[in-house]
Amino acid sequence: MKLTIEDVRSRFIKHFDGETGSVYASPGRINLIGEHTDYNNGFVFPGAVEQGMIAEIKPNGTRNVRAYSIDLKDYVEFSLDDEAGPKATWARYIFGVCREMMALGVPVEGFNTAFAGDVPLGAGMSSSAALESTYAFALNDLWGENKIEKMELARVGQRTEHKYVGCNCGIMDQFASVFGRKGSLMRLDCRSGEYAYFPWNPKGYQLILVNSCVKHELAGSPYNERRLQCEHVAEVIKQKHPEVESLRDATMEMLDEVQGSITGNEYKRARYVIGEVERVLAVCDALEHDDYEMVGKMMYETHYGLSKEYEVSCEELDFLNDVAKEMGVTGSRIMGGGFGGCTINLVADELVDAFKREVKEKFQAKYGKEPIVIDVVIGDGSRKLC
Ligand code: GLA
Repeated sequence: MKLTIEDVRSRFIKHFDGETGSVYASPGRINLIGEHTDYNNGFVFPGAVEQGMIAEIKPNGTRNVRAYSIDLKDYVEFSLDDEAGPKATWARYIFGVCREMMALGVPVEGFNTAFAGDVPLGAGMSSSAALESTYAFALNDLWGENKIEKMELARVGQRTEHKYVGCNCGIMDQFASVFGRKGSLMRLDCRSGEYAYFPWNPKGYQLILVNSCVKHELAGSPYNERRLQCEHVAEVIKQKHPEVESLRDATMEMLDEVQGSITGNEYKRARYVIGEVERVLAVCDALEHDDYEMVGKMMYETHYGLSKEYEVSCEELDFLNDVAKEMGVTGSRIMGGGFGGCTINLVADELVDAFKREVKEKFQAKYGKEPIVIDVVIGDGSRKLC
């Protein structure tokens, strides 16, 4: 069911003595292609979704933030001036955003807040970026005179992940959440920050997510380790090719040259990333010619790479990918950081109903529970609702 302002407002009023504040929202995201390329300075191709976070916020005249998570039914109070911050992870996202906005000179004051979301947690749809972007956008509006640029708001969310949560993520999720635009995907060059909107209106196809409901949490996963492996390979290549700052600049030939100086795992990780940077550009090209078969082919290649080379898949996700392939679905792959969550599927209109039915049946037969099927609707980015 779609989350509404009223769902949040009614709880805010109940929790905080009948008064109302301002309401803000930010979405989760999908990513058509370009996985684990953001922190390698490559390209990504995300879009915001309709599902997201909604938060009501009202200044309370103190230095404390009183935060209520409607979904978790959990209440936390913390001081803006206490460096340690709260323990609960969900509250650390809000705390981190406050502290990072303060570090940018925004005179944040204490506030009461309640929030809820309809992005499935741990599904690889960036519920945490949606939360960070909601508060970064709101604090900029309430205390920053909207002077902080949108890209910096996205970075505030990213720094929150790095410094307060322990996930050394790239910029894709926060970028997509802040910059999303209804009906458009976005190609972002993660090195230069340049981006372009691509209207997403594939004639004859739909994007469908299948959530394996295997929960992932990147902070505790080998996500950070993957990043370090990539950075190490880039450093080794740089010794021979000084122009290589990150894997985005490397070629397969350069990688082969250094194979003897890196581990087997590092070689596989880098092979995937170098291939993926090329695939994003190939997809952009294919989209200009409405060549969805090519887009789908690239998605399957990405899945293979994420599963066998980058090794961030799991049995359930590989199974979902196999079902899609057997049914003749145009494209299918793991979406997001991996280790669980969703596959994203590019499905021809005439196959949609059968795919939804069969993927549920087959998954249920094998794992004893139904996956959740989600129709992708590309929505808007961070905004004030009232
Ligand atoms: C997570 C991270 C992103 C990105 C993806 C993988 O969602 O937050 O920065 O690295 O994984 O593409």
